[in-house]
Amino acid sequence: MAKSGAKSQSPDLASQISEIDARMKNCTLCRLHESRTNAVPGTGRIADLDLMLVGEGPGRNEDHEGKPFVGAGGRVLDSILEAAGLDRNEIYITNIVKCRPPENRKPLDDEVETCTAYYLEKQIELLEPRLICTLGATALEYFTGETNMAKNHGKLLRSKRGLAIFSTYHPAAVFRSNSLREVLQADMKKIPSILEKLREREYQQDIAEFVGKSTS
Ligand code: URA
Repeated sequence: MAKSGAKSQSPDLASQISEIDARMKNCTLCRLHESRTNAVPGTGRIADLDLMLVGEGPGRNEDHEGKPFVGAGGRVLDSILEAAGLDRNEIYITNIVKCRPPENRKPLDDEVETCTAYYLEKQIELLEPRLICTLGATALEYFTGETNMAKNHGKLLRSKRGLAIFSTYHPAAVFRSNSLREVLQADMKKIPSILEKLREREYQQDIAEFVGKSTS
């Protein structure tokens, strides 16, 4: 899934990502550090990134392993990605907050504000994903301000800052309602063609820019 429009990324991207991962692992900026076992920075592809998945925050298994979506929700996610023809190793997976909220409660506003300002926004700036897929209401609201999942899932949206956002349900939602598995699956299956369109649009913009430069 290499980018066609070839935005060149810094050769030391891996070391820059490792550096912010290390900062997350030692972070004490909010109360969530007090109860964590491990911070969970993110995993997956970093160079020429097409797709970043953003969940809410680590659960118990993720807190133990230091990796996102490795518990029951992760297994649902894996099967849904596979059925959509998406390879987990080609995607960068992370969360809004990087430390587990106690009892899996929703992260509080100040936790979201601090963690995203210091870490998620930095990850996005470095990795420049072509598309961000939000998993669940917390990530949808963070990027778009929208709170209505039923209305906004399965659609290409724009973040407040102009990033391409595709929103769907959180994988754990299928444990509350099995019918959501099909909805989640149908949404995920749209991603490859959305990526194709975004690549095509970038390619057209590159050409227009190139022609503009060569005639000016
Ligand atoms: N739920 C999330 O939102 N993220 C994880 O990493 C695991 C479960």
